[in-house]
Amino acid sequence: MIKRFSVKELLNTEPKEQEVVLEGWVKAFRSNRFIALNDGSTLKNLQCVVDYENFDEELIKSISTGAAVKVEGSLIASQGRGQAVEIQANKLTLYGKADADTYPIQPKKHSLEFLREKAHLRIRTNTFSAVMRLRSALSFAVHSYFQQNGFYYMHAPIITGSDAEGAGEMFRVTTLDPKDPPLTENGEVNFKEDFFGKETNLTVSGQLEAEAYAMGLGKVYTFGPTFRAENSNTSRHLAEFWMIEPEMAFYDLDANMDLAEDFIRWVIQYVLDNCQEDIQFLEQRLLDEEKHKPQAERSEMPLSEKLKFVVNNNFKRVSYTEAIDILRNSKPNKKKKFEFGIDEWGADLQSEHERYLVEKHFKCPVILFDYPANIKAFYMRLNEDGKTVRAMDVLFPGIGEIVGGSQREERLEVLQKKIAALDIEEKELWWYLDLRRFGTAVHSGFGLGFERLVQFVTGMGNIRDVIPFPRTPQNAEF
Ligand code: 4AD
Ligand code: MG
Repeated sequence: MIKRFSVKELLNTEPKEQEVVLEGWVKAFRSNRFIALNDGSTLKNLQCVVDYENFDEELIKSISTGAAVKVEGSLIASQGRGQAVEIQANKLTLYGKADADTYPIQPKKHSLEFLREKAHLRIRTNTFSAVMRLRSALSFAVHSYFQQNGFYYMHAPIITGSDAEGAGEMFRVTTLDPKDPPLTENGEVNFKEDFFGKETNLTVSGQLEAEAYAMGLGKVYTFGPTFRAENSNTSRHLAEFWMIEPEMAFYDLDANMDLAEDFIRWVIQYVLDNCQEDIQFLEQRLLDEEKHKPQAERSEMPLSEKLKFVVNNNFKRVSYTEAIDILRNSKPNKKKKFEFGIDEWGADLQSEHERYLVEKHFKCPVILFDYPANIKAFYMRLNEDGKTVRAMDVLFPGIGEIVGGSQREERLEVLQKKIAALDIEEKELWWYLDLRRFGTAVHSGFGLGFERLVQFVTGMGNIRDVIPFPRTPQNAEF
């Protein structure tokens, strides 16, 4: 039997005129003789030489960019430059042609906007295949890091009855008839008759359930889809995104920050070690793009340098209070250049402020901690000062917030007071409060937005281009 190879394998195989079979998609067909074949295994194509005189004319005519083919032949040292090996084809099978008049992915530059409309085909471009190979490698790195460090992978539920972030931006899950739902005596929808006998939604975070598991398994992490019905049409928001949420018993906020930093650096080092080809390609893509930008908007470092910089430098840790001082006295604030001016302690930070701190002031990733209690979620641990909580956000250049986390409030009475003040009913959180009734302990965790990490590593400006089929307001095609 002739063995099937991938382009990646063949490019690393010594050519000895051995018989090989390769299947893939035609990237380009030159001079009726040279097929550049790609199968997704690597950015590179393998050149297949077909001497058209030896093949059926109709067959040769049907070979065009995008067609799926099988090439059988011998692997030889390449005659041409630019590649070490090529296949001298003696048999060619056309699986499926791609009509040049209608196939949208032609060998020319397409805009990312155009490709978003063709999300089912864009993976056949170099840019998207590089991004998605990196996304895959990063996922593997995430699991590797936690598995090597004593964490257990926990599958938090996707359908949930609790609103972890308390932001109310949830997608409802129901089987009730929207036109004729059962009603209570007060005329409200009677969710007791719904599938789960209560109101349920798609999860905005697996944190609360992860906390329950950390209080038994010690160190856990989730890595799954997360849903937010916020109407944010930005380059950093998706309605469906993937979040990684480690949760650790006996970790305080400092240990939590140490972990976040070590983890992010480790996964970036992993792709630097294992995905050079794709990183180099994306780096060049960015450099080409920058040529069209005014000098002031060009980034200071090429992509791989930016990644190495993060791996090699400590993140700067700054309290919210210090950050507010810096921002209040900053040039853009004094010159009223911020859309949201900073006058007082207590203001929520917008992405313009986060980016100022990271990109202009510190020029490195920053961890902000000890935020005002009233701009953060209910579960964060109250500090002695009574007004700040043990929250931390990791801020990245070009991205803004990449991680949000905290030390959790482990004291029953303090938590009860907090939820009473927010008018949340205790019975809604009964099981969460139970964790404080039975064997409570200091614990912490954080959430990393996976797509934002992929954006950073690939340098892609829009979050819609780092997830296969993005879901955003008014958009769930495919
Ligand atoms: O800051 P967030 O809302 O924190 C939580 O959900 C906590 N429960 C995490 C925890 O402590 N276990 O979200 C965490 C991260 C953000 O920093 C951001 O990177 C990402 O999730 N994120 C989004 N990514 C893409 N699209 C959105 N709409 C996102 N919302 C949050
Ligand atoms: Mg946050």
